[in-house]
Amino acid sequence: MTSSSHNDPEDKDTVTITDNRNQRQVDFRILHSELGPDVIDIQTLYRELGYFTYDPGFTSTGSCDSEITFIDGVQGILLHRGYSIEQLTEQSNFLEVAYLLINGELPSDDQWHRFKHEIETHSMVDEQLIRFYSGFRRDAHPMAIMVGVVGALSAFYHDSLDIHDAEQRHLASMRLIAKMPTIAAMAYKYTIGQPFIYPTNKLSYTENFLKMLFSVPANDYEPNPVLSTALEKIFILHADHEQNASTSTVRLAGSSQANPFACIAAGIASLWGPAHGGANEAVLTMLNQIGSKEHIPEFIARAKDRNDPFRLMGFGHRVYKNHDPRANVLKDSAHAVLKELDAMNQPLFELAMELERIALEDEYFIEKKLFPNVDFYSGIILQAMGFPTSMFTVLFALARTAGWVAQWNEMITSPVHKIGRPRQRYTGHGPRDYVAIDRR
Ligand code: ACO
Repeated sequence: MTSSSHNDPEDKDTVTITDNRNQRQVDFRILHSELGPDVIDIQTLYRELGYFTYDPGFTSTGSCDSEITFIDGVQGILLHRGYSIEQLTEQSNFLEVAYLLINGELPSDDQWHRFKHEIETHSMVDEQLIRFYSGFRRDAHPMAIMVGVVGALSAFYHDSLDIHDAEQRHLASMRLIAKMPTIAAMAYKYTIGQPFIYPTNKLSYTENFLKMLFSVPANDYEPNPVLSTALEKIFILHADHEQNASTSTVRLAGSSQANPFACIAAGIASLWGPAHGGANEAVLTMLNQIGSKEHIPEFIARAKDRNDPFRLMGFGHRVYKNHDPRANVLKDSAHAVLKELDAMNQPLFELAMELERIALEDEYFIEKKLFPNVDFYSGIILQAMGFPTSMFTVLFALARTAGWVAQWNEMITSPVHKIGRPRQRYTGHGPRDYVAIDRR
């Protein structure tokens, strides 16, 4: 089978697939993308030619139309609704970015105050939900608690489960963004045996989260502006990243018309894996394993050895093949946080910078276009701020909820709303007869 692209007589861009096996040719439309590669519409391929496409890992497959986020992996560009991630981290705040992702435009002054008020109105959780936590072991991983408790929201907020009702969808979206810091902070407090702290609405979204995590009822708490600014940036940088594994999971779960809380819980489960949200935790483990600068060459050699499963964690990305723009912002933040905290994590940071320098000069990493990703520096910042490593992915989930909610809403309101159902290439046995157990 071969394919070629040309302009057909009706002036429509098409790609022609020639099926040499069956001596057939079929044209498929090329759909124009606003930015980035155009796409071939192969929805009729199976009907026309009787073939499925084969693309494990979806490296060449678009699953939806989306107006939310654009990534140019070669240029290292990340845009949300057209605004660059650099401008958003510098000039905006996380809640405003959440508004932008969901609504498509930056809010007016009035819209901003109404949105903020709405989020504040929903920041507490049902008191009964709090009892849920005591069912977990104290040493439970906070991500395990997150998957359970966020999924359980669907058992508490029955008035926002109808996905066909725009008001209910809006209410569920606000609840998810508003309650996520409270749920995440409680997951942490539970594992360390401290009392839960209720939200304080006069603080910003991020300051309130820090207070719920790090304050105790016995003492006053003043958020540190350097730390809350750094965390705000981390939240913005993680807010959305188009059709990554967890977002695709949310869309796939939502495509069956599952309720929004269940869909976001599915996204949290997907994010938990070390190849996705768990990578910054893995970076710290790796840095501690390397220990000191003189061991770097040994680990670089291991990363390059095909027979060794070791990989340089925080390096490489499915989409970014030049640089990850989020990594640059975080490197600057790491400097600011470590300075503020009196260089507590300085040796680890210096080790990370040296590792980055050596890897970026190495032929293997240059040739395979492997660069530090967002996770390379975020773990260092978060650890310096006092977060245990088990909370890193929880923070990611909190921030990504904004993107998941935006993408879920976009999918539900899209005119093309089909249940997601990939096909397969079957490689198992052909039909065979059952053999009784005493004859096997
Ligand atoms: N260290 C060493 N070699 C690497 C690394 C790495 N970190 N990443 C990729 N490679 C190599 C692969 O072995 C492969 O080599 P080959 O061509 O000889 O087979 C080649 O580079 C291409 O790698 P793939 O795994 O095919 O690339 P893919 O796009 O599928 O994977 C991924 C991207 C999963 C991020 C990968 O680079 C990786 O495992 N990195 C480390 C984990 C990590 O940092 N994950 C966080 C991603 S960012 C996020 O989720 C927010």
